[in-house]
Amino acid sequence: MKAIIATESGGPEVLKLEEFPSPSPSPTQLLVNVKAAGVNRVDTIQRKGSYPMPPGESEILGLEIAGTVERVGENVTGFKQGDRVFGLIGSGGYAEQTVIDYRMAMPIPEGWSFEQAAAVPEVFFTASETLFTFGKLSAGETVLIHAGGSGVGTTGTQMAHQIGARVFITAGSAEKIERSKTLGCTEGINYKGADFADEIMRLTDGEGVDVVQDFIGAPYLKRNLAILKPRGRLVVVGLMGGSTGEIDLGIILRNRLQIFGSVMRALPLEDKIRITERFIDRWLPLLKEGKINAIIDTVMPLSQAREAHEYMESNRNFGKILLKVE
Ligand SMILES: NC(=O)c1ccc[n+]([C@@H]2O[C@H](COP(=O)([O-])OP(=O)(O)OC[C@H]3O[C@@H](n4cnc5c(N)ncnc54)[C@H](OP(=O)(O)O)[C@@H]3O)[C@@H](O)[C@H]2O)c1
Repeated sequence: MKAIIATESGGPEVLKLEEFPSPSPSPTQLLVNVKAAGVNRVDTIQRKGSYPMPPGESEILGLEIAGTVERVGENVTGFKQGDRVFGLIGSGGYAEQTVIDYRMAMPIPEGWSFEQAAAVPEVFFTASETLFTFGKLSAGETVLIHAGGSGVGTTGTQMAHQIGARVFITAGSAEKIERSKTLGCTEGINYKGADFADEIMRLTDGEGVDVVQDFIGAPYLKRNLAILKPRGRLVVVGLMGGSTGEIDLGIILRNRLQIFGSVMRALPLEDKIRITERFIDRWLPLLKEGKINAIIDTVMPLSQAREAHEYMESNRNFGKILLKVE
């Protein structure tokens, strides 16, 4: 089969389409003919060599797929050859075939394309776990979602709006802010032209927000803490701006703040199965009803993984970039 690997650490040019043996499913895995795979920011970080794969994972990039079942392991129940499935995997998505544990695989709802399905797992699981399991965001509360135009941000905005929270986002262009408003954000802040902390305090009449979902890290740390209301929660989901910052513990003490961190890929399989189950219970029904959607920016052929990474790193996408496998 053909698949994409990074031949060395570096820029998008190190991504190469090469021949690999097809993977063999373990007793609890499905072998899937991949039809579409999601591109995620962490793939670009892995390509640069800063996010090594967990032990035992394939060197082929790609964390989420949709496709058809080719073969099932001997202990698999509930799936058979030909079924249309989608789900989160540890690696191996940028390929013609991959394997997925059957407890992580979900049947593709009727009427969905493979692209639509592959756009869902990583961003919905991440937004769901970070905003709700950790951040405990609830109806009537206020949240600031950074990188509102990202795959995770476009998803979190819809989820938070759907449960009745007031949503603010930051983004690097007026166009991303306007599009975020169509997903349910009340106000967007262009971080290139304004200080987001000043803007949040102005927009909330000095009250601040209950939850901050952050992907930027170090340069935002102090301001993220400063805009939290008493009992506020900061959830650290990404570190696109750097990882080392200074914290005034006084503000945490006085305001009884909480800071959470979350990274999904390194979790044990059992934890990821629970995350999949929580998604199926809470968010999949809303997706099926069309109340929330995976926002797709671009679909490219698998052979253009290099161009897909270049596009993502130019920060021009609003929502998901996908690779189509033909
Ligand atoms: N912890 C986990 O389990 C987990 C899982 C999935 C994703 N993530 C993280 O979630 C984040 C989003 O991932 P994604 O795949 O959804 O991203 P994406 O679609 O590539 O979007 C990222 C956006 O972030 C903004 N950005 C980039 N660098 C920035 C900087 N230095 N300062 C401010 N904004 C910046 C850009 O938009 P603008 O135009 O607004 O600048 C960019 O388009 C990443 O940090 C990723 O590592 C974490």
